[in-house]
Amino acid sequence: MSEVTTAADNQSGDALENLLTENRHFAPSAEFAANAIVHADEYAKANADRPAFWGEQARELLTWSKPFTKTLDWTNPPFATWFEDGEINAAYNALDRHVEAGNGDRVAIHFEGEPGDTRTYTYAQLTEEVKKAANAFESLGLVKGDRVAVYLPMIPEAVITLLACARIGAIHSVVFGGFSADALRSRIDDAEAKLVITSDGTFRRGKPSSLKPAVDEALVAPGHSVQHVVVVKRNGQDVKWVEGRDVWWDDTVGTASTEHTAVGHAAEHPLFILYTSGTTGKPKGILHTTGGYLTQTAYTHRAVFDLHPETDVFWCTADVGWITGHSYVTYAPLINGATQVMYEGTPDSPHQGRFWEIVEKYKVTILYTAPTAIRTFMKWGEEIPNKYDLSSIRLLGSVGEPINPEAWMWYRRVIGGNNAPIVDTWWQTETGAIMVAPLPGVTNTKPGSAQVPMPGIAVDVVDELGASVPHGHGGYLTIREPWPSMLRGIWGDNERYKDTYWSRFDEMYFAGDGAKWDDDGDIWLLGRVDDVMNISGHRLSTTEIESALVSHPSVAEAAVVGAADETTGQAVVAFVILRGSAVEDADIVTTLRNHVGKEIGPIAKPKTILVVPELPKTRSGKIMRRLLKDVAEGRTVGDASTLADNTVMNQIAESLKA
Ligand code: PRX
Repeated sequence: MSEVTTAADNQSGDALENLLTENRHFAPSAEFAANAIVHADEYAKANADRPAFWGEQARELLTWSKPFTKTLDWTNPPFATWFEDGEINAAYNALDRHVEAGNGDRVAIHFEGEPGDTRTYTYAQLTEEVKKAANAFESLGLVKGDRVAVYLPMIPEAVITLLACARIGAIHSVVFGGFSADALRSRIDDAEAKLVITSDGTFRRGKPSSLKPAVDEALVAPGHSVQHVVVVKRNGQDVKWVEGRDVWWDDTVGTASTEHTAVGHAAEHPLFILYTSGTTGKPKGILHTTGGYLTQTAYTHRAVFDLHPETDVFWCTADVGWITGHSYVTYAPLINGATQVMYEGTPDSPHQGRFWEIVEKYKVTILYTAPTAIRTFMKWGEEIPNKYDLSSIRLLGSVGEPINPEAWMWYRRVIGGNNAPIVDTWWQTETGAIMVAPLPGVTNTKPGSAQVPMPGIAVDVVDELGASVPHGHGGYLTIREPWPSMLRGIWGDNERYKDTYWSRFDEMYFAGDGAKWDDDGDIWLLGRVDDVMNISGHRLSTTEIESALVSHPSVAEAAVVGAADETTGQAVVAFVILRGSAVEDADIVTTLRNHVGKEIGPIAKPKTILVVPELPKTRSGKIMRRLLKDVAEGRTVGDASTLADNTVMNQIAESLKA
């Protein structure tokens, strides 16, 4: 290992541009490398003929009901098809085939509830549950192609629901439980969901918290497409009941038959829609299909986490409401026949050692979590994890936002016993699966960098004009060739799909992230270059929150920025101009925060709301968020010469002093 020269301690946005050199490298141990699943020759093999490589993975990792003869069809870009004439059932691949292969007794899920209740599902048991749910959903009128909105906490029924939908060819659309009734309704409407699966609630920090009331509220206004709401009893609290519409999970799924035959669906049959924030106010329904998605999630799970399904215990801490909880909780681990841990609660309940208690209890070997969690653990102090036996851990993963080198080093030393390789994985809801990451038995890992495009993936960093930049330079992250788990579009909006991802550069996918090749040819992610913020790894758009603020009668105008935050990566800071009639007092800030909570969800509530007399705008009326970001981050305000009125920043400064 070479010595440190310089390391950026704050990687977000511009700060990384100033990154000098990160010279720390960590080679995998000889033992790790010797037992690794994927070797260095994989890159050359995969990149020599990408479609052929993915075809090989699709055949090796999955069981097809009807084998495919074609791999990629890219004759109508940007609309790709993969394995188009093949047929496959995702649930059969995740479940039945493991039972048929004699692994029915292997644990699929160790569930740890927030109050400490536990459940274990073997592959045989999980298969039965999914068959029952598939029968129950069909008995409620659900057929192939119908959409199902899923508004559930992190409980096994979430995974069971998703796989039951996939089994019958229904398209799931999970809405994170932290989104509000309004956000839920707009997603139900956009996808025209026929069924909603929810629970009475869940537990948060030792107390019951509710979910069903938000579903009831979402469905108050007429004109929706929902025929039934299936309710899992989780925390036992009283719920309002709509006769004829609402049914208990236990009364339908609980009593359904355990016989259900999985039939193959076309490889390009839609598997799910997942809404995510973009540059405009309206969330986009990202569409994923079956064969390519399963291929790349399964491959990356095996290669990046060096998965040995007979011995590993995998724990991905992401909620099923996000893409990570789809790809690396619901699908890939089960497709690969792994044993995994699923946890309902937060890391600090009932105490700050909860994660490590779980690692010790289930002997977790692979832990996959987010930098925001790691920074929080650092803040709480290493004496907490030090109290637990973490020696089972042999690999650590990070996802969702850039991990700053110091957090990376802490993760390696305190959690990984100075030995476990760390894989920092870059990808997006749109990419479906990991795109840039080290291979743990091959790559010398480097703190803070996601490093290498996956085998078979053509990632590049380009300048304004789309030309590749040389090592040592920064630009925009793009993907030059289609990949199996790529989004197939935006639900109901092909134009927006083309505009958002394929119009910025010719024949390249534009990810929306700034990136840089360092001198060694490793990739560093520099944060979003568009109006998307990353709060604790949750993706939110500035426009979406601005729209929510302006929808309040007291607000005339609003501008939102993501300001660097030590723990959450970024924090939402809002600048608002009140309407003449509105009174500025402490209550208005609380009122507006709650209003955003109601419109979008608690995760979107601004950390800070500043009432200002004016907003900085260019002559063409564009808000100069860059200047507001300077204010929010406490810096000297940058070049304001293009402002239509250059006294505005002074006015803002004065008003904030007052
Ligand atoms: O900005 C990148 C950041 O998260 C964005 C994608 O967010 P989402 O679709 O919610 O998916 C998150 C989980 C895959 C990206 O555009 N991001 C994700 N992973 C990393 C990252 N930024 C830096 N390093 C990462 N490892």
